[in-house]
Amino acid sequence: MTARTLADVPTVPGRAPLVGHALAMWRDPLRVLCSLGAAGPVVRVDLGIRPAYFLTEPGDVHDLLVTHGDSMAKGRLFERARDFVGNGLATSDGRLHRRMRGLMQPAFGHARLTGYAEIMADTVLRAASSWRHGDTIEFDREMYALTVTTVSRAMFSSTATAPVVAEVQELLPLVADGLYARTLLPKPLTRVPLPANRRFDAAVARLRELVRVVIADHEAVGADRNDLLSILLRSAEPLAPGGMSRTQLRDEVITIMMSGTETTAITLAWAFHELARWPDVAARLHAEVDTVIGERPVCRDDVDRLPYTNRFLNEVMRLHAVPVIMRRATAPLHLAGVTFPKDTDLCYSPYAVHRDARFFPRPERLDPDRWSEESDARLPRGAFTPFGAGRRKCIGSSFAWKELVIAVAAIAARWYLEPAGPTPREVMSASIPRPHALPMRLVDRRDTALPA
Ligand code: HEM
Repeated sequence: MTARTLADVPTVPGRAPLVGHALAMWRDPLRVLCSLGAAGPVVRVDLGIRPAYFLTEPGDVHDLLVTHGDSMAKGRLFERARDFVGNGLATSDGRLHRRMRGLMQPAFGHARLTGYAEIMADTVLRAASSWRHGDTIEFDREMYALTVTTVSRAMFSSTATAPVVAEVQELLPLVADGLYARTLLPKPLTRVPLPANRRFDAAVARLRELVRVVIADHEAVGADRNDLLSILLRSAEPLAPGGMSRTQLRDEVITIMMSGTETTAITLAWAFHELARWPDVAARLHAEVDTVIGERPVCRDDVDRLPYTNRFLNEVMRLHAVPVIMRRATAPLHLAGVTFPKDTDLCYSPYAVHRDARFFPRPERLDPDRWSEESDARLPRGAFTPFGAGRRKCIGSSFAWKELVIAVAAIAARWYLEPAGPTPREVMSASIPRPHALPMRLVDRRDTALPA
């Protein structure tokens, strides 16, 4: 079959002059992303003046991330992010990325995870035991506080005080929402002193300042604490071989602070929203944690003893996934039957592929039983990628998974969370779409006869 060229690729309907599909991607991005599969295996979407080509078949997604992973840069979304969050692991490319990934990988290795799991269990137990039966809490906010505290303790040995955690927790959604807006807006518009731009710039500046304080506190103690920040600081010493600059150090810490907290907090928020929506699932999950954990505190070894909880979280991550992963071809490329020139922006939507009924029948249904060893084996490569794939796969995936299982088990062992507001709208951001608000009422399962 002759290779098609870019001119043969269909353009998704709804393109407007000058702004392309930016308006549609602003108004209802998740609907647009979920409609792409019907238009073909490769579809053009104009994000402002530049086109991006979306792949909708899992096999092509796998080729993009894994087979051709070495000839890809991260592309426009991340170039824009670089102006604000710097050139850390998630935004850098090429040799710098390879060097920093190699340097940071040991901090995420198997040997360290056991220690992290203890910190995770301790952090969530402290939070969950401070709640009171009958209170209504902003559950999404609580989850930000939980994940900011966990990552600060595990990665930076930081005992960030409650006001600092509260401030970071306020800043992160502001920065993530602003980053998404900036990938759609023409660059000059982002420099106009509009209130939204000023809020975003102030949030980034404040986040940088807080990160400076975390680094300064760590240095003041002086000791090597065997954490990620110690590894980075050693490499930032003036005479360290191949050492990094202080700016690079700051960018790496901001990157971990952002990528390691937002995604996990949002996933946990949706997890408890989904448990309240699916009482049969909640009943089985509660039965499992009651049998395995009972009244004792959750511990690090529980992660592998809770198969239903693990399958439930697979479903939460399937339904609430990153909307867009983007790459830029650093060389001409033949993929999905199309020849793409160098510098083409190529994307796919994990959010949309995870809702493709060919691979996940009745996709809107949260069904932990759809996961089993046989179904995993049947699933095409590239159909389920909550952490991405290939050389840019999430460095924190094992860390995140442990944190998710431990937090869900610890909270569900004690608490049932009742929705205390309307069904939340999904707000688009640079990470997972988040609930616009999630007030929930706390019901103590130890004192109450419950529906589940
Ligand atoms: C539910 C939790 C999480 C989800 C869904 C998630 C998702 C992802 C995804 C999809 C990517 C790949 C992006 C791409 O290919 O362009 C990624 C990369 C990354 N994640 Fe995560 N992540 C999570 C938790 C974490 C945690 C806990 C950390 C650190 C403590 C972390 C740090 C990073 C970093 C640094 C990268 C960039 C890696 C690189 O490019 O080499 N993430 N994450």
